[in-house]
Amino acid sequence: MNKRITIAIDGYSSTGKSTIAKQLASKLGYIYVDSGAMYRAMTLFSMQKGYITNSQFNISDLIDNLDTASLKFIYNESLGFAEMYLNDVNVEKLIRSLEVSNLVSKVSAIPEVRRKLVAIQKEIGKNKAVVMDGRDIGSVVFTDAELKIFMTSSAETRAQRRFDELIQKGEKVSYKDVYTNVVERDRVDTTRKDSPLIKAEGAIEIDNSELTKEKQFEIILKLVEEKLRDI
Ligand code: DC
Repeated sequence: MNKRITIAIDGYSSTGKSTIAKQLASKLGYIYVDSGAMYRAMTLFSMQKGYITNSQFNISDLIDNLDTASLKFIYNESLGFAEMYLNDVNVEKLIRSLEVSNLVSKVSAIPEVRRKLVAIQKEIGKNKAVVMDGRDIGSVVFTDAELKIFMTSSAETRAQRRFDELIQKGEKVSYKDVYTNVVERDRVDTTRKDSPLIKAEGAIEIDNSELTKEKQFEIILKLVEEKLRDI
């Protein structure tokens, strides 16, 4: 099965996009790209430089210094996926914190930030054989993707999943704060002017509120196999 297609997986936060994207990439021998990690790394960069705090956001300083943020994915063989590096430092753990989650929607609403990251994403995917997850992959980055999936599930289910994940990583968070973050990110991601989260034309919607990871993988792999057969 050596056909190369592009698979775009978009959807609300904590819908399990990265889980299914990693499973598919590993099954197909494709590259997996977590575009959210790039927006998170740009948010961490903005925090480290003091461009953004909980009370202020100096957008023009961020824009003026965008070129000084270098983003790279480096494959970690033991984990089986690529980790995010910001200016040659592995930031994989730092970018998953609730502090970054609380500010990432503001940073990802800036058109200059999106332009920079979309250019990198297009470059990574130019030879196809890629599974990329995010918010605008099917609608902006790869409008010609052979398969577009749009993932949804209830805010409660998503907050519980995120909460369990953070607790497992040893973060001290409350369910209420995580739930508030999930709902607020949904609101900002769907209402921003530049590349809002939408179901792309031709995308297939999967609501996984009631699906196990195994069942979800089975359903989506079937869609991939049908696509591969058709092209
Ligand atoms: O997938 P995630 O939850 O790690 O993404 C973090 C944030 O990054 C999300 O709230 C919105 C933003 N994002 C985006 O605007 N466009 C993408 N393609 C991916 C993520």
